[in-house]
Amino acid sequence: MITLTSLNNFLSKLLIYDKKFNLSLVDPYMANGLVYHGEEKINKIALAVSASLTVFEMAKKADAQALIVHHAFNFPPNVRYDQLFQNRYSFLVKNNLSLFGYHFLLDSHPQIGHNVSIIKEIGGTIEKPFLHKGNPWGYFGRVNNLPLAKIINGLKNKLSPSMTLYDFGPKNINRVVAISGRGTPLPPDIQYLVDNKVDLFITGENSEWIREIFREVKINYLAGGHYHTERFGILALEKLIKEKLEVETEFIELVNNV
Ligand SMILES: [Fe+2]
Ligand SMILES: [Fe+2]
Repeated sequence: MITLTSLNNFLSKLLIYDKKFNLSLVDPYMANGLVYHGEEKINKIALAVSASLTVFEMAKKADAQALIVHHAFNFPPNVRYDQLFQNRYSFLVKNNLSLFGYHFLLDSHPQIGHNVSIIKEIGGTIEKPFLHKGNPWGYFGRVNNLPLAKIINGLKNKLSPSMTLYDFGPKNINRVVAISGRGTPLPPDIQYLVDNKVDLFITGENSEWIREIFREVKINYLAGGHYHTERFGILALEKLIKEKLEVETEFIELVNNV
């Protein structure tokens, strides 16, 4: 058994890896910390990619007193009654289930984040943060002339069955970018990839304009699924909690192939 206070301290110390971030500017719409303070005594922690009523019910059924997610839920934009928000929030209140959400901090974390975990998974070394809309959401990584086919083969079991690969770039890879979730680059960002000699861009989602852009700049593009690319950091966090804290954990899998 641990206390919610000690869990909160542990998570804050681990995940707020750079005190200089102004999180409300970098990530104004998603939580990066405790969202709801419930039961103080914690025997079990559930972890999941995204908050939803179904995930809350699954966490409750698993007998967890706290839930940690990557995507918490949005607060209503105005004071009007908001059914989605009220139903989700009141479930937490009624069941005394604490909720933590770590969004930007889990994408960008230099040890257990989704993106460093993806680069480590393909045997790469971490180079430097990759900027998305001016903030360091992703990472550049280096592999040593690794065949693209080998990378895809090694990763594919952990990615969405509906993943997309545009193999328009080199057959052997040296530099990759990993930016999980909806990390699709905007057209003005493409020159940043070209300037940095990126051979493979790994993200979660795809967009209509991406195929022809990547064909023209001859860079490989892998959209492995928003959900699937954002399991990596949650699983790394679960492993660390198991190692460091005297508490049971359970990963709540509500799979989503998008
Ligand atoms: Fe993310
Ligand atoms: Fe995401």
